[in-house]
Amino acid sequence: TSSQNATTANGKLIVVANRLPFVLRKNDQTGKWERKASAGGLVTAVAPVVIQGNGLWIGWPGVQLDDPNMPIPESDPSDCTPTAGLRSNQVVAVYVEPQIFDSYYNGCCNGTFWPLFHSMPDRAVFSSDTWKAYAAVNHEFADKTLNALKCLNKEDIEAGAPLVWLHDYHLMLAANTIRNEAESLDLKFKIGFFLHIPFPPWDIFRLFPWADEILQGMLGCDMVGFHIEDYCLNFVECCQRRLGCRVDRKSLLVEHGGRTVRIRPLPIGIPYDRFLQMAHEAPKLISTNQQIVLGVDRLDYTKGLVHRLRSFEALLEKHPEHIGKVTMLQISVPSRTDVKEYQELKEEMDQLVGRINGKFTTPNWSPIRYIYGCVSQMELAAFYRDSAVALVTPLRDGMNLVAKEYVACQINPSPGVLIVSPFAGAGEMMHEALICNPYEIDDAAEVIHRALTMPEDERVLRMNCLRRREKENDVNYWMRSFLKAMGTLITEDGEDVLP
Ligand code: G6P
Repeated sequence: TSSQNATTANGKLIVVANRLPFVLRKNDQTGKWERKASAGGLVTAVAPVVIQGNGLWIGWPGVQLDDPNMPIPESDPSDCTPTAGLRSNQVVAVYVEPQIFDSYYNGCCNGTFWPLFHSMPDRAVFSSDTWKAYAAVNHEFADKTLNALKCLNKEDIEAGAPLVWLHDYHLMLAANTIRNEAESLDLKFKIGFFLHIPFPPWDIFRLFPWADEILQGMLGCDMVGFHIEDYCLNFVECCQRRLGCRVDRKSLLVEHGGRTVRIRPLPIGIPYDRFLQMAHEAPKLISTNQQIVLGVDRLDYTKGLVHRLRSFEALLEKHPEHIGKVTMLQISVPSRTDVKEYQELKEEMDQLVGRINGKFTTPNWSPIRYIYGCVSQMELAAFYRDSAVALVTPLRDGMNLVAKEYVACQINPSPGVLIVSPFAGAGEMMHEALICNPYEIDDAAEVIHRALTMPEDERVLRMNCLRRREKENDVNYWMRSFLKAMGTLITEDGEDVLP
């Protein structure tokens, strides 16, 4: 399969993302800075390509550094994560003044673009101050990228045009700056962008006062990738209606500044084999013979957590036969805790869990087990493997990897059932899951009931299909699809296996 071939880019890969593939932490005892690896799928797929091709990763180290010029520490010898081989000279830490960074990250990225792009405009705050900070930080990332391009030696460039890969809504302006400034310096390179969240319809996107600049920023690329075709079409329509670009909806092309920009759906996958292996190795952690209904999310208002708890409450009301026999396990990972909306959601969830538990708990059972905190990948694999139902019911979600991780871990002969929202990118493709509109609380309760009572043969049929699809379309396949869309894919055997 695609994942077995080593993937390399023709030309050096320069990844530019808000976050580096690890965070820096100061060791309290030694006072020295150390790397703490991140576990995400993006890092798993992309870091090896950067390492192999001697590329670069430009990003924010996750903390405020004491000294902007501080050298990046090498990885710990015991580190066996995918980023361990990333040498310190392959990492560029972007330093921004704390106040500007706060205005860019908490203000513009998480206070404006996050809600707006998830079609929740009422939650979005529009402010020219945070927008200025956003532009300044994008400029800083662009400068670092230009510097990296200037520092490449002749052999690097002769091996193939370097490839700059920008990630996500934090960096929507950088491509244009890089392209404009590189032109006067006569630097040759290719540049692509991937948006990890939805791209909203024109009628929502147009609310952003500086919408033109965002579109122009992204159109500085040769290719712009989104998870699904709907987001591609939204983007194409915005380019046409806002900038008056000539577009081709069928071939997904946008003409801009005398160039043609390719728009591509590139649905991301997970490191399937890694989850499969963890599911085999993970110890049994859930000590109950009850059916577990599992939810795993960053604590974020887009995830539909309040709706989810209400539908579980409705299930217990409408189908009391589940009382004492079914438990919901909700893991909420703290996220963006400096943003007011996230603090308020935390309060609301704490109260709601308390209220529902107070209503139904018996001396020997309570309906909801609620974890507000981080769990390890191994614990997660155990929870996925041993849960009867996974509830993935966001109100809006670019893709949602929890749905995919759950099916990868379903190794028991009597598998569980995935419930997924149609408003997640994952809901578009995982056809054999039960689809549930999270806004319809009573109907969602019925879907959970159906999942809990589904005959084994139907569960097996559905899960087999879901697993096969995720195995084939894993995160390595996504990485290769991106390189192919950029025209820079090389495989070990020289064979191109993508359609
Ligand atoms: C989403 C975004 C990522 C982001 C992640 C965690 O998945 O698409 O870019 O890194 O959320 O959010 P954080 O603000 O902690 O980076």
